Amino acid sequence: METLLLSDRCAGDIRKAGEILRRGGLVAIPTETVYGLAANALDGEAVKRIYQAKGRPSDNPLIVHISDFSQLAPLVREVPEAAKRLAAVFWPGPLTIILPKSDLVPTTTSGGLDTVAVRCPSHPTARAVIDAAGVPLAAPSANLSGKPSPTTFRHVQEDLTGRVDALLDGGDCAVGVESTVLTLAQGTPRILRPGGITLTQLRSVLGEVEVDPAVLHKLGEGKRAASPGMKYKHYSPAADVIILDASPEEYVNYVNRKGDGWGLCFDEDVPFLQVPSMPYGTRYDGASQAHRLFEALHSLDEVGAKKAYARIPSKRGVGLAVYNRLIRAAAFQVVNPTGVQVVGLTGPTGAGKSTVGEILKKKGCYVIDCDQVTRSPQVYDSTCLEELSNAFGPEIFEEGVLNRGELARRAFSSEEARMRLGQITFPRIIRRVRELLAEGASKGYKVLVLDAPTLFEAGLDSACSRILVVNAPKEERLARVLKRDNISKEAALRRLEAQPSPDFYTSRADWVVENGPGARVEEALGGFLEDLQVETGSNRL
Ligand code: TXA
Ligand code: MG
Repeated sequence: METLLLSDRCAGDIRKAGEILRRGGLVAIPTETVYGLAANALDGEAVKRIYQAKGRPSDNPLIVHISDFSQLAPLVREVPEAAKRLAAVFWPGPLTIILPKSDLVPTTTSGGLDTVAVRCPSHPTARAVIDAAGVPLAAPSANLSGKPSPTTFRHVQEDLTGRVDALLDGGDCAVGVESTVLTLAQGTPRILRPGGITLTQLRSVLGEVEVDPAVLHKLGEGKRAASPGMKYKHYSPAADVIILDASPEEYVNYVNRKGDGWGLCFDEDVPFLQVPSMPYGTRYDGASQAHRLFEALHSLDEVGAKKAYARIPSKRGVGLAVYNRLIRAAAFQVVNPTGVQVVGLTGPTGAGKSTVGEILKKKGCYVIDCDQVTRSPQVYDSTCLEELSNAFGPEIFEEGVLNRGELARRAFSSEEARMRLGQITFPRIIRRVRELLAEGASKGYKVLVLDAPTLFEAGLDSACSRILVVNAPKEERLARVLKRDNISKEAALRRLEAQPSPDFYTSRADWVVENGPGARVEEALGGFLEDLQVETGSNRL
């Protein structure tokens, strides 16, 4: 079959795409998530061709794309209040809503189900094509079934040239992972597939929202998938992908030691890897990871990679979508090379890290208090004292004993002096922390917790497999600092302000415990501990 190449920079081409679709043909079109392979959603014969072109099982239903909310009503039995509220906030955009279908939607489109998935994309080209066609468009991702979804026009060309009527070039897709699929067709709203619209965003509009177990876990034998797409092998490159549940440091060590595969890594890891790398985004930026993951998976195929190692991504926010796709690309192979989890416990001052540390200790974790390490004799050994004396003068000693007040006065007198103190003490603090980590592991602890207010500033996050952030509203933190440190309000405020914003911490977290007044901290930690999924050994976890 001859495949016509079209471009959205050419107004005539959008009209052409519309004509082909109206006549029952297939056109691959750009959307803000991934490219879609479109056909008239109301024409069962046209839709059948989509399944053929993609090699897609016929019981895997398609998403119907509309250009305006008003086009939803004819496709469904009824538009519930929840759908109206969601559409008002998230449409046009990467959210797909499932509702009981009307008779207008052929069963070919719904994969034999009595529900239909509908989405209103925000990509101007997608919307223009829907308008030009004058009908709603059924469009799965424009890849061959089982391949990673296409986020660039080149990927579409590779998979579909010769199999469809036309391909419409619209450049690269912004989001990079497919839309969030949310069902409103049964009980509590439930995410069947995570995407660009996050669980938190959905909860902010609907209140209660569940996540289908199939999002994170392999379906048990014989279990029925709520979303048929979840039961098929998906998003897989030819390479064997293995996810390492480890800290960034351990990830690099393990991959270098193995030396037999590619690093499907974050940008920050590249300089440390001695194997070829395929970075997909930066460590703490789920959106950049979502944007680049599929392209990286494609590229692994192009370079003929046989094996690739990825570090476990965060499951927070858009991270959940990244994790969901990656774990499928890895066929659920997750390895913890050390057998332990190192949890970085941090957050703004006064949020209640110590409270959380205490609870974790009670639950059998090995908790290292980095503030205590900072003052320990192991850090202030004789060579350290000598260097301090050279840097700040012998007056910091009083009868041979370090006068910490005097040292602080001198060290905090200027930025330069402060830096000097850091240069002398930081390497020793970090060395001591590492000794303690090794000690905890050798004692058989499976969860080692680093309680460190300056976890990121000290670069200790690289030693952590998870980041746990404790946060609280500012007034509450202020009140706690006032009470704890017995200082003036001005001094306390200054201390709060000298720190990075709460956002700095939460955007880097795998888990956030909100510890405001009346918070149930222990309960909030439950899911986190469950997620660590390590053998608990002698620990009580
Ligand atoms: O971002 C997207 O959603 C992209 C672009 C092109 O819009 N489309 C897309 O379609 O990813 P597709 O077919 O690759 O994935 C649709 C997913 C599948 O997992 C399918 O099983 C599920 O949505 N789905 C569709 N209709 C459903 C229904 N009625 N009930 C349950 N799951 C449904
Ligand atoms: Mg797909």
